[in-house]
Amino acid sequence: MARAIWSGSISFGLLNVPVKLYSAVARRSIALREVRDRETGMALNAVRERLEAAIDARADELARDELDRRLREEVVDVTLPSDAYHRGGLHLITQIRREVEDVFLGLGYRVVDGREVGTTHYNFDGLNFPEGHPARSPLASLFLDERTVLRTETSPSQVRTMEAQEPPVYVVSLGRCYRRDTPDATHTPIFHQVEGLAVDEGITLADLTGTLDFLLRALFGESRRTEFRSHYFPFTEPSIEAYVSCHVCDGDGCGVCRHSGWIEVGGAGMVDPALFEFVGYDPERWSGFAFGWGLERIAMLRHEFPDLRELWRNDLRFARQF
Ligand code: PHE
Repeated sequence: MARAIWSGSISFGLLNVPVKLYSAVARRSIALREVRDRETGMALNAVRERLEAAIDARADELARDELDRRLREEVVDVTLPSDAYHRGGLHLITQIRREVEDVFLGLGYRVVDGREVGTTHYNFDGLNFPEGHPARSPLASLFLDERTVLRTETSPSQVRTMEAQEPPVYVVSLGRCYRRDTPDATHTPIFHQVEGLAVDEGITLADLTGTLDFLLRALFGESRRTEFRSHYFPFTEPSIEAYVSCHVCDGDGCGVCRHSGWIEVGGAGMVDPALFEFVGYDPERWSGFAFGWGLERIAMLRHEFPDLRELWRNDLRFARQF
């Protein structure tokens, strides 16, 4: 009779029977066939049956014990609180980028992608930078070859957008820019800008300041005051710079705002007619405004940290605060 052989040792009451015996029992049932004496055969059969029954019973008992042990030891209390799962968060610059996008999507603008690697054609010529302008120098900008440059601002996206569509245009374009600056508390060679462009019939400087005022309040809160001062950019005429009242002294003057009461957030202006001619828009019919602000600058002003290199250090104690 071919039964599986139990491995390990088995005890019958006081008897401790090793596996070997079990296989001997199996062999014995073959040997039993050769017993001719009826009495002996019956006796041996009875012994065999008792042994087999005992082995089965013991095997059941061991299996039950094993099950009990596992139920006892492997118990899981599903009501216990689990280990805290650390979820990641968005980097402050990504948060601000999305906030700015939300503000402009709410105003009916489209978000467009620009190119980080551009040509001098779009980065300078199309933006009315004259030959010899300092920004065209390899000392100021990062060139890959004579005509290929890592974009120094998001403004080339204005030119590409206008080339690709007819007015009216309402777009923002956000992303990385590159300048050959030595890192310090207010500069890093890679930084982020938001570019805005609106072109339509009858757009005026009042539309620009109204829009920027709206953005500044959305980013910095209702209580902050804004101010615009004249400035110069090759691609806007007139050009302005936006200032927001200092968050530390509320305009009284302190070390943070260099005792002026105001902090500059970025440039803007009315699109220079030369750009419209470059892309084939009729400057007599269309007018527009553009602005370009640094996201790191916005982050620093809003959250009041003194060194924007913190945004790159990846110290979680810093990053987790936002
Ligand atoms: N591109 C300018 C800068 O990087 C900002 C700007 C954008 C100014 C659009 C006017 C209009 O400083």
